[in-house]
Amino acid sequence: MVLLMTYYPEVQKKLRQEIETQIGDRMPTHEDRNRCHYVMAFITETLRFRNIVPMGVPHKAVVQSTIGICCRNDEDWQKGSEFRPERFLDSEGQFMTTRPKAYIPFGVGRRVCLGEKLAIADLFLVLVRFLQSTQDYDIVLDSNCGIDADPNIADAFNPYDYKIFHI
Ligand code: HEM
Repeated sequence: MVLLMTYYPEVQKKLRQEIETQIGDRMPTHEDRNRCHYVMAFITETLRFRNIVPMGVPHKAVVQSTIGICCRNDEDWQKGSEFRPERFLDSEGQFMTTRPKAYIPFGVGRRVCLGEKLAIADLFLVLVRFLQSTQDYDIVLDSNCGIDADPNIADAFNPYDYKIFHI
């Protein structure tokens, strides 16, 4: 999340603006998720864009299957290779509670992640506290760093080593 918000400064700005207007300086609560539509869309898009599903214990496919379904371009994802939190907001800017079937950052079926609800709740609180406690700074990415995945790390979307600064 930190890498993505530095690579897309306008996203970082929108996150900060929403937190400032909806929460301010007080501690965030779980209920704040209902009014922080952009923050929730950002978390959801991060989990789609760089999901950890391929790092799991390998499973055997019982039927021919296509992998990489979170990032392909098709009827589920328009411009699936782009990072766009807005894809999870409706025309009124409300966070959408229904998602395409292809959204499976927590896996699917019998072995689906048991911790999904806890993980989302924690990601929200940690992200909001991080942005609140850095509200006097911009978090910026070293100009030599990008967000591309390191091809030397098999089966995962790990980024290359990168440096960030606050200014
Ligand atoms: C952003 C955070 C997390 C992500 C993206 C994530 C994702 C996943 C994925 C992809 C799987 C594998 C599903 C499969 O094998 O098909 C999994 C399994 C699992 N996760 Fe998570 N997880 C997260 C956080 C958590 C947390 C916080 C907990 C517990 C408190 C947790 C507990 C589990 C357990 C117990 C399984 C194994 C389920 C099984 O094999 O029956 N996860 N998770």
